[in-house]
Order: sequence, then structure tokens, then C-alpha cells
Amino acid sequence: MTDSYDLVIIGGGPAGYTASLRAAQLGWRVACVEKEPKLGGTCLRVGCIPSKALLESSERFVEAGHGLAAHGIVLPVAPALDLPRMMGRKDAIVQSLASGIELMFKKRQVVRVLGHGRLDGLGRVQVDGPDGTTTLTTKHVLIATGSEPSPLPGVALDLDRIGTSTEALAYPEVPGHLVVIGAGVIGLELGSVWRRLGARVTVLEYLPRILPGIDSDVARRAEVFFKRQGLTFELGVKVTGTTRDGDGCRVTAEGREPLACDRVLLCVGRRPFTAGLGLDTVGIALDPRGRIPIGAHFETSAPGVFAVGDVVAGAMLAHKAEEEAVACVEHLVTGVGHVDYNLIPNVVYTSPEIASVGKTEDELKDAGVPYRKGSSPFAANGRAKAFGHTDGFVKVLAHQETDRLLGVHVIGPWASELIAEAATAMAFGASSEDLARTCHAHPTLAEVLKDAALAVDGRPLSQA
Ligand code: NAI
Repeated sequence: MTDSYDLVIIGGGPAGYTASLRAAQLGWRVACVEKEPKLGGTCLRVGCIPSKALLESSERFVEAGHGLAAHGIVLPVAPALDLPRMMGRKDAIVQSLASGIELMFKKRQVVRVLGHGRLDGLGRVQVDGPDGTTTLTTKHVLIATGSEPSPLPGVALDLDRIGTSTEALAYPEVPGHLVVIGAGVIGLELGSVWRRLGARVTVLEYLPRILPGIDSDVARRAEVFFKRQGLTFELGVKVTGTTRDGDGCRVTAEGREPLACDRVLLCVGRRPFTAGLGLDTVGIALDPRGRIPIGAHFETSAPGVFAVGDVVAGAMLAHKAEEEAVACVEHLVTGVGHVDYNLIPNVVYTSPEIASVGKTEDELKDAGVPYRKGSSPFAANGRAKAFGHTDGFVKVLAHQETDRLLGVHVIGPWASELIAEAATAMAFGASSEDLARTCHAHPTLAEVLKDAALAVDGRPLSQA
């Protein structure tokens, strides 16, 4: 079968499905090729969404166990864990969102093609699907194939006891001892889930700090909070291998005794996924980090072939991929499309949450940018006290001379939602004074953001 399109997208994750929907909205005839039966990509099937479901459930479990008495709510018996039901809830959320994308495709007449897509020369995409091989002809191709977990030399994944985030989202029982390799975003989010559900969790990290890339003040404070929650960190540890040992595993690292555990979660980053994509048929060569090189408008070296999301340079974040997808399609159809990479928020959904936008203080120092900073704690905030979550602070960084906002960093309750105000303000080129003079409802958590902005000018109202 041969069919002809304006745009064929390879990959049905946040980049691919967003590009599909936007291109169809703009009147193009679009096909989206996805090898998995469910649309939504890593983010929806085995990433952001199921992890957030488990983070929420595990947080409720902790709260039911220890957090309610302070509110005067006494449970007659200690809460018990029904793990299959918790997993079932997570799976149902994933299923309903995947069906939602399917429905949107139908409504916008995006053709969904099930199978593995590969370039077959310019203007052709070959799909190996359950019913055989199909060739789609198209004016444009968008590669949105995402990423996969990076391997680590010596760590042989058995995708059971020694696995990645995919396995850690579906362990059949709470591990007695879970060893997490890598104190990045995945390690801390999924390490938190299993710690809250009762596992002993040891996090081994190569660097002398956790959460590389996050503002170091924030990361230091986060480490204190996570230790208080019972996570054990061993920093400056280079893991060299893992082995299965009966029903358990052993983790070896340079200069330390092997560590016995029940399960290992490897999360040392992700790498672009380009296997079997036929890039050679159109002459695309990968960069040294395995990414597809692109120009200012997401164009690859092959005419009519574009790439966005985790498969190209930049942060491996679903919302960055979505922004690129929209900008790429809009540029193709209308001639205009743009992503402001400085305004892509970063969120870690631990407790407390961590969120940031713009530059870190470390980056400003390295670049020699003159700045002023103000911070404010949640401890003095009425809404935070009512929530019973007062850990953390907001830090606002503004240019020394112009006062323009350069970066905002939040560790505290609902940081993931609070950061949107900072991103919006920065998108409008706001100064810290603009943020400080904006009326914020009382009592709200957002008042801490306002107070940190006031603190940039040395006049916070909630601190002595
Ligand atoms: P990451 O890059 O966040 O962290 C990996 C960590 O592993 C680093 O701290 C690194 O120093 C450490 N490491 C590397 N080699 C090691 C070794 N041999 N021994 C011990 N430690 C070692 O990667 P992660 O957590 O796997 O996440 C992958 C991607 O997924 C990231 O790009 C992240 O942005 C994205 N993601 C985003 C989420 C969010 O936005 N909330 C949630 C989950 C993932």
C-alpha cells in the first residue's frame, strides 16, 4: 500500500502527537507512525505520567500513616498497602490519557499507523507493522523517536531485578532493599516512591552532589530533606557492575564493598533513540552524542526531514519536546515558529517538589553576569502552614543593573505549579520589581514568590 501525506511523523510521544495535532489543525494531511499499541511515548506509557500517579499514591500512603494525626484525624487501624490496586490506578490513568490522544487523532483526522517506521530515501517512510510492510510517501518527515535509558558498562540489565525506570514503575512487591544508581531526577522520584512504600533505598551517585543541573543551594537543601525521609545517599561512588545473586543482586563500585540488595534501578541518564531509523538512506549522520543535528528550524541535513524532542540536543523533557514540535510545524506551515530555550521550566516531583526556570546561580557566576538575589522561606507562609508543608524556599535572581528576572528556583509545596508564574513573568521580560509589585492573593503559596522578589531589593515583608 502507498499513501501520500504532507507530513509523516515517526514517533507518537509528546513531540510526535503534539506535532500531529498542530499540523492537522493547520490543515495538513498527517500520519503518525508509532510502534507501540498505545500512543503517548515514554512520557505517558513509562515515564512522567505513571511516575506522577505513583508519587501521588505513595504520598497519600505516608500521609495516612503519619501525617493525619496532626490534623486531628485518627485512623482506627494503621493503613495497609494494596500494591496491585495502586498499580491498577496508575495503569488506568495511563490508559485513559492514551485513549484521549487516540480520540484527538480521530477528531483531527490524523492517520495513526501502527508499526516501526524507518526512512526509505527522501519522501518515503516504510512501516513494518503487524499486517506487513507499508510505504508512506510524504512531502515532509518529522523524526520524534525520543530516547531510551543510557546503559552503564558492567551493569547487565535483566529487566527484572536489575532494570530501569520501566521496571521500577511496576515492581510486583515492595523491595526490601532497592539500590538506585544515579541521584538524578528519575532516581529521586522513583527512589522516593519505593521509600515511602517501605523499601530501604540506597542511592549511589558518581558526583559529590545530587541533582546535577539544579541550583546547588536547592540541591543541598533537597539532600537534607530526602535524608530525613530515610533515603541513604552515597556520593562520589563510581558503580562498576551488578550481578544477580539468587533472588537478589550485588552492586560493585570502585573502592567500596559490594552492596547486596533485592533490586537495582539504573538511572544514569537517557540517550537518543535512533535504532533502525534508516538515517543512512537520507544521509543523516549523528553527532558524537548520538543526537540528530538540526538547524535553527529543526531541519536536518536531509531536505524535507526534520527532528525534534529527545532525539535532538537539549533538555530531555516532554514540554521542551512539545514546544519544539509546535514551533517546527508552525514554521513549516506558516513560516514562523520559535522556542525560547531559556524559559523551559524544570521540575522534580519529589516531596517537597523542586522547580526552576532560567539560569541557576552557579550558571550566572560562571558566566560573570552581575546579579542580585532574594529568597524567602515557606516556613513563614500561612497557606504552607495550613497545608502542613513548610519545608523549602523560593530564590529569585535578577540582573544587577536592569533588575530583569534571570532565574527563579523553588523547593517547596506545589513548586511545580508555582514556577508557571515565574516563567510567564520572564516571558514578558519582567523585573523582580514587577513580581514584587503584583498583588498576590492571601493566603497563597505564591506570596512566597512575591516575598523573594521583594527580598531582591532588600525589603521582604515576611522576614526580619
Ligand atoms: P539524570 O541525568 O537526571 O541523572 C543521572 C545521574 O546519574 C547523574 O547524577 C549522574 O552523575 C549519575 N551517574 C552517572 N554515571 C554514574 C555511575 N557510574 N555511578 C553512579 N552515578 C552515576 O538522568 P535520569 O535520572 O536517568 O533521567 C533521565 C532523563 O529523564 C533526564 O534528562 C530527565 O530530565 C528526564 N526526566 C525528567 C523528569 C521530570 O522532568 N520530572 C522525570 C524523569 C526523567
